[in-house]
Amino acid sequence: MTETHAPPAAEQENPLLEGLRRRRTPEPCALTIFGASGDLTQRKLFPALYALAVRHLLPEHFAVVGVARTQMTTEAFVERMRDAVQEHGRDEFHQETWEELAAGVRYVAMEFDDDAGWEGLAAALNELDEERGTDGNRIHYLAVPPKAFEEIVRQVGKRRKTSGWTRLICEKPFGHDLASARALNATIARYFAEEEVFRIDHYLGKETVQNMLVLRFANGIFEPIWNRQFVDHVQITVGESLGVEGRAGFYESAGAIRDIVQNHLLQLVALTAMEPPIAFDPESVRNEKVKVLRSLHTPGPKHIVRGQYGPGDIEGAEVPGYREEEGVTPDSETETYVAGKLYVDNWRWADTPFYFRTGKRLPRRETTIAIQFKRAPKPPFDAAEEGMRPNVLLLHIQPDEGVSLAIGAKVPGQGLAIRTVHMDFLYGGAFRTGLPEAYERLILDCMLGDATLFMRADEVEEQWALVDSIIATWQRDRPAFPNYPSGSWGPPAADELLHRDGRSWRRH
Ligand code: BG6
Repeated sequence: MTETHAPPAAEQENPLLEGLRRRRTPEPCALTIFGASGDLTQRKLFPALYALAVRHLLPEHFAVVGVARTQMTTEAFVERMRDAVQEHGRDEFHQETWEELAAGVRYVAMEFDDDAGWEGLAAALNELDEERGTDGNRIHYLAVPPKAFEEIVRQVGKRRKTSGWTRLICEKPFGHDLASARALNATIARYFAEEEVFRIDHYLGKETVQNMLVLRFANGIFEPIWNRQFVDHVQITVGESLGVEGRAGFYESAGAIRDIVQNHLLQLVALTAMEPPIAFDPESVRNEKVKVLRSLHTPGPKHIVRGQYGPGDIEGAEVPGYREEEGVTPDSETETYVAGKLYVDNWRWADTPFYFRTGKRLPRRETTIAIQFKRAPKPPFDAAEEGMRPNVLLLHIQPDEGVSLAIGAKVPGQGLAIRTVHMDFLYGGAFRTGLPEAYERLILDCMLGDATLFMRADEVEEQWALVDSIIATWQRDRPAFPNYPSGSWGPPAADELLHRDGRSWRRH
């Protein structure tokens, strides 16, 4: 692509960004998106492609083919995607940049089990190789429900070109349980090598999640105290104020445990607890994460709390309960909240609780990892002082991305009053730039063939094994739902989970 627009001004002027901008250019390729008429393509994928185009990070020879069942012309699809970029993109809209990207976009309507459709798709891709110089390199992005995965994998697998590379991006959910995830991995392995498979957990594409590795392994001061000797416990919160947002069809059979715990939450646990990898490459990083996942014990029923939101208030507006949402059965037992206590049973972490909670319709959107350190052993001050609290290192994954360390400080003046204050690093303040969306990073990494920030087959299976065993303990009793009002921090049992251990959830 020719250079038409420079990156946004803030990104050019900030000296802290000097030398940090990645200028790796991917090889020519065509990206096929299966499920192109869906929400993800409009809200995330096309806006991400456009943001990459604005920053000149896409390959010079590039094309996109949208594939879905919906009948639509290429022109109609391009128009829809332009609207989506204007609505959801993070950059100002430049017609010229859009037109360059749009010139390589095609749409193919087909049923996934129809051979004629597959032939039409192959013809469109071959044509693009000629017109756009995409060289036979292919990325197939599966943004479809898991039941459509197998057929698409089989079809693209058996139609693989002999020249050029082929890669597969699998959107979550990857299966519905351990058995289905294993079956899917087995089908994929018949046609693809593991390094050609990119299983998405978009949390790994978030800057602040990657920053956790930088914080831990690029700084000398944290690693020596990052263990059971110094850490009292860890609290991980993935809170959302949104409800089910018209996704009941999917959510009713998933619930919070499959939607968030199985992937995002367990990935955050793994990144927090993992040993230093020997290199920042796919195998080294994923080997260490999988060791953590293997050392997790299934929490007993007393150590897991599930909840479902009832009606309530979010930021002053009344909202319905989960059972009143469209598409949800009035006696649904689907959980919209899960909290629990996990132990990472290894030398570094033995006996250190990792508490986690995730829920919809909580008071606000907040994803944080709080590392709470042990108290000072015998301070020569009054232990009742307000500021005599344990130190907490708080990683703000979103919003207000940054890191903050809570310390006790002397209040100026006579006497010796102590208050908790915070040493803060805020992304926005330090780098004065908007953070890229997770999908920008992940799509680009796949084009570059770098799977470090994607899940390996064994990781996904370990995550499902744990989730399946938790769900199995739920079969024994019926939950009394709803058990938390919208706009609260979850059911009272989640507070009791920590109170029993003499602890409490971080104050908000
Ligand atoms: C998705 C879940 O994986 O993550 C959604 O399916 C959830 O239910 C979303 O809302 C949260 O992502 P983010 O990036 O907004 O924290």
